[in-house]
Amino acid sequence: MTDPLTPVLSADWGNDRAWTLAAYRETGGYDALEKALAMKPEDVVEMVKESGLRGRGGAGFPTGMKWGFIPQDNPKPKYLVVNADESEPGTCKDIPLMMATPHTLIEGVIIAAHAINAQHAFIYVRGEVLHVIRRLQAACREAYAAGYLGENILSSGVSIDLVIHAGAGAYICGEETALLDSLEGRRGQPRLRPPFPAVAGLYASPTVINNVESIASVPAIVREGEEWFAGLGTEKSNGFVLYSLSGHVKTPGQYEAPLGITLRELIDLGGGMREGSELKFWTPGGSSTPLLTAEHLDMPLDYESVGAAGSMLGTRALQIFDQTTSVVRCVLRWTEFYRHESCGKCTPCREGTYWLVQILDRLNRGEGQERDIDLLVDLCDNILGRSFCALGDGATSPITSAIEYFREEFEAGMHTPSAELFSPATSTLFPQEVSV
Ligand SMILES: Cc1cc2nc3c(=O)[nH]c(=O)nc-3n(C[C@H](O)[C@H](O)[C@H](O)COP(=O)(O)O)c2cc1C
Ligand code: SF4
Repeated sequence: MTDPLTPVLSADWGNDRAWTLAAYRETGGYDALEKALAMKPEDVVEMVKESGLRGRGGAGFPTGMKWGFIPQDNPKPKYLVVNADESEPGTCKDIPLMMATPHTLIEGVIIAAHAINAQHAFIYVRGEVLHVIRRLQAACREAYAAGYLGENILSSGVSIDLVIHAGAGAYICGEETALLDSLEGRRGQPRLRPPFPAVAGLYASPTVINNVESIASVPAIVREGEEWFAGLGTEKSNGFVLYSLSGHVKTPGQYEAPLGITLRELIDLGGGMREGSELKFWTPGGSSTPLLTAEHLDMPLDYESVGAAGSMLGTRALQIFDQTTSVVRCVLRWTEFYRHESCGKCTPCREGTYWLVQILDRLNRGEGQERDIDLLVDLCDNILGRSFCALGDGATSPITSAIEYFREEFEAGMHTPSAELFSPATSTLFPQEVSV
């Protein structure tokens, strides 16, 4: 197989002290900023539009179009907020990126803030990752000292301040409007839309919110050009992305490749499945995206193909599970997470996730009741599309897709505990004896 990897964001992760400004400068760091500062803000927006960059935080919304929504005639200040709350189960790309080369993100922040005429930018980092917060703060100090942040950046007349903000330790604070409430010092709960953040976001002012990887992709686009970026990937899903490969593969980790690569190719890159493992099911974009199976191994991983297969590309968190995994137990664990993280604002999600856990728990113990599968489907039907934000919708995805592909395992839960059918002792993740 020819090597399909395209390291751009991850190209320098292994370099000596790659997180320092000196190391970043050695590989052309901040050259893109100089180029962007010489451009008019609207031309930078146009460039990002033409590149075809789509948001890497899950929904895949076109980034340049989002920047273009900022009403420039609004007299209020404009804000740029980077969503670095990364908490989706299986997603682990933003944190390594910020640890390895924080200046890639900071350079992207300055270019993006310039493009939307924002003088203040924030990086909202998941509160639990103190080491990442410290690394970003150190990089931010270096950028100020070098004149890349602050007043009159590189004598361009552009002034931008950047604040690194420690998050509130809740998955819901990754939802963009809950994030804004949290950043304003309130309890993080999603806001009613409209108004959308582009019109009334942070402090009721026009705000762009983008994922870390989206913003970190911008310096490369400015440096290499929009045509280069648009030439990678597929026709409608342009560019390269970080795929987080985890689970029953020999070499889990981050693999940077164009959109449109297949899972089969990625598993090959990861050294193949573990000894004795066969692919049973996987998530294309974290636990909030419907499960897929071995029949989807050759499906291109782009927004369109994954959507056509009934799932979502999400955050490209590819969690790989083999035949030793109980789908019921796995789905129960995810649902416990959603129940715990439900912010409680709306009834379908707050109450529904509680009841989903009760039913899945008894199926997992082999004590399921006859109507339980119908009840699960009915509950999911009442949560999906009726919840206030996408957390509720996401909570139903693993359940309905698991029932679609592995109904017999749920039926077995009416008489046999999953630990008997899939003893943890046989797991290729934990090959040693473990007590059930
Ligand atoms: C419950 C929930 C959690 C989310 N967590 C994150 C997150 O940790 N990081 C992120 O970038 N987007 C997250 N999102 C998506 C954001 O709401 C938003 O779409 C994204 O930050 C936009 O950035 P992008 O256009 O660059 O993808 C989450 C959404 C939901 C509903
Ligand atoms: S769907 Fe869940 S997380 Fe979202 S607002 Fe409703 S209760 Fe909160």
